[in-house]
Amino acid sequence: MAFAPAETDIDLGGVSVRTWAYNGKLPGNEIRIHKGQRMRATVSNKLPADTSIHWHGLAIVNDMDGVPPLTQSPIPAAGSFTYDFVVPDAGTYWYHSHVGTQADRGLYGPLIIEDPDEKTDYDEELVLVLDDWIDGTGTNPDQVLENLRKTGMKPMPPGGPRVSPTTPLGGDGGDVTYPYFLINGRVPADPDARDYRAGQRIRLRVINAGSDTAFRVAVPDALLNVIATDGYPVMPAQTRSVILGMGERFDATFTVDKSVPVVAVPEGKQGHAQLNIRVANAPATVKIDTFVEAVRNEVTLDTATLVPTPAVTLPVQTPDQVIEARLSGPDSGYTWPFNGKLYDPTKDGIPVKRDQRVRIRMINESMMFHPIHLHGHTFQVAGDNGPLARKDTVLVPPKETVQVDFDTKNPGKWITHCHNTYHLEGGMGGWIFYES
Ligand code: C2O
Ligand code: CU
Repeated sequence: MAFAPAETDIDLGGVSVRTWAYNGKLPGNEIRIHKGQRMRATVSNKLPADTSIHWHGLAIVNDMDGVPPLTQSPIPAAGSFTYDFVVPDAGTYWYHSHVGTQADRGLYGPLIIEDPDEKTDYDEELVLVLDDWIDGTGTNPDQVLENLRKTGMKPMPPGGPRVSPTTPLGGDGGDVTYPYFLINGRVPADPDARDYRAGQRIRLRVINAGSDTAFRVAVPDALLNVIATDGYPVMPAQTRSVILGMGERFDATFTVDKSVPVVAVPEGKQGHAQLNIRVANAPATVKIDTFVEAVRNEVTLDTATLVPTPAVTLPVQTPDQVIEARLSGPDSGYTWPFNGKLYDPTKDGIPVKRDQRVRIRMINESMMFHPIHLHGHTFQVAGDNGPLARKDTVLVPPKETVQVDFDTKNPGKWITHCHNTYHLEGGMGGWIFYES
């Protein structure tokens, strides 16, 4: 596989933007590979800046994780680097740059790992990559960050965050106002469209590649049957909509019976993203604006509340070590402390030991939501009444605490951070390390 990140013009569907993307495409090419196969990907950097690729969610060898300078040197402009690793687990994953604000440009794509032995009950797959878009619209992510540092964020709703079943993130709508929301690189005025026959069962694989936006995903008049999150299977659950933080994924099946849009509604922001499912070329009859409003006001499903299948549930064990991840901010200059300090790959690493059960207590002291991601492992969310979903990224609502458990089976230096691109740039990250 060859990746050429470069400056390029992209048509978002009647909106042309100059941005940075892989091989001139948005999203980057879909990678499909079988579990257990070796993947080799050569990156030839045509950007005017350092870059890297991170394979989000995969528990691969540490020096292929793509996090400069923690796991490799950055790939310099005109330089190249070959990623070479064996893919361990099946599921819906994705890849993106892990340098600066580059993830808020076009440097991302889907990575689907298939298990040839998996029993399936659907006819077709449909991959949806969601994104919030601002690059090349008169500004770019570096300028957005500059402005946040100078002027800070939008004000919070009066009374502060209020977490409820209909507002699981407390009404926090992120820090950046985006002109566009995309599914598979298209604006809703000219969406991606796919043709199916009535009665076909579709498996959606949905990836939130956004930088500052959680999305609720829903299909009018359909119940989604959620079967996996962050690559790992869950006991099937039916819901009208699913909320995904940045970096999170879910897989769901549903049966097509008519032309409908699949809609992604940005949490706390104006607008929506859309992809059209077409049956017999008939136009969809749903009123989009009404549907979007209904989705905003309904109860939605947080994938962290799902129950893992027995096959992927971690054996019961008391944690050998408990780590804290205190999330606070914003402090002056738009900084976002992690355990009271800003991310530093040269110091403050948290030592853990190999072959142990480690718990992370993610304590959100701030008024904003943070999707917290751990590299190199798939943790299990700790519920009050037993284990919840295996995930690699979890939503931590304002003022709440989420606990996750994982086994130290993949030695190295692994970053854990907020998947809001601007919060990470503002320092919201730490790292753990252990040796083999
Ligand atoms: Cu998807 Cu450290 O990132
Ligand atoms: Cu954050």
